[in-house]
Amino acid sequence: MAVLLETRGLAMTFGGLRAVSNLNLKVEEGSLVGLIGPNGAGKTTVFNMISGLLRPTEGQIVFAGQEITHLPPHAVTRLGLARTFQNIRLFANRSVLENVMIAQHRHVKYGFVKALLHLGIAKEEAEIVESSLELLRILGLDDKAEQIAGNLPYGDQRLLEIARALATRPRLLLLDEPAAGMNPNETAQLMEFIQRIRRDFEVTILLIEHDMNLVMGICEHITVLDYGMTIAEGTPAEVRSNPRVIKAYLGEEAI
Ligand SMILES: Nc1ncnc2c1ncn2[C@@H]1O[C@H](COP(=O)(O)OP(=O)(O)OP(=O)(O)O)[C@@H](O)[C@H]1O
Ligand SMILES: [Mg+2]
Repeated sequence: MAVLLETRGLAMTFGGLRAVSNLNLKVEEGSLVGLIGPNGAGKTTVFNMISGLLRPTEGQIVFAGQEITHLPPHAVTRLGLARTFQNIRLFANRSVLENVMIAQHRHVKYGFVKALLHLGIAKEEAEIVESSLELLRILGLDDKAEQIAGNLPYGDQRLLEIARALATRPRLLLLDEPAAGMNPNETAQLMEFIQRIRRDFEVTILLIEHDMNLVMGICEHITVLDYGMTIAEGTPAEVRSNPRVIKAYLGEEAI
């Protein structure tokens, strides 16, 4: 399998704090990979660097054979990389359907002449509605399409974030704690959704998550960070039995 995402010696320093040190991550195309670690380990900072929100202090990021280290977020999105946020970012006052449509609009390019003549826009609009509804169907949100996003239960808002990310047709999807705030039923359903999304969209997934059942249940490969350092890597079974990982998590999660 080809490597879709690679970080080489990636590091981020905030003032005197080394949030991420010498990260060498390789994500193979088609894989489902976990990035875990205790609170403050540097996981979200890694996503912020990969998605172009933060400029790394050191190192390189290569995506689909192209160096993206210093590209702004919109350019990274255009290359096929989408993410969700630990702190949900939705248009809270717009409908569920509109939230997905807005994300798709950024993806669809109206040609200048077409825009001028308004030719084909109605057709394109209808297609956007249809494909947005299809995304909502996949995530079980289609019956809530007309509801105001901000009124959805928390778990549904997380799913809507995933639908918005998928609307850009990414090759790589970064999910930052998708199960946060979900109850066990919602989390179990989320696990199925993630696996289905991966199959149906042929998308590679890199996932940050504190829910160990979820991570160990669906990821093929896991990287563990602690204080910004990579302390373990491997299959769920390897990581789970690694003494450094157990120590890092001691008193937090029973691995
Ligand atoms: N923009 C920033 N400015 C200064 N410090 C930051 C910034 N972003 C993160 N940090 C610090 O960097 C460290 C890593 O934070 P990060 O959010 O990446 O951790 P995390 O692994 O995602 O944690 P959590 O599991 O709690 O989400 C923390 O000490 C945090 O306070
Ligand atoms: Mg985080």
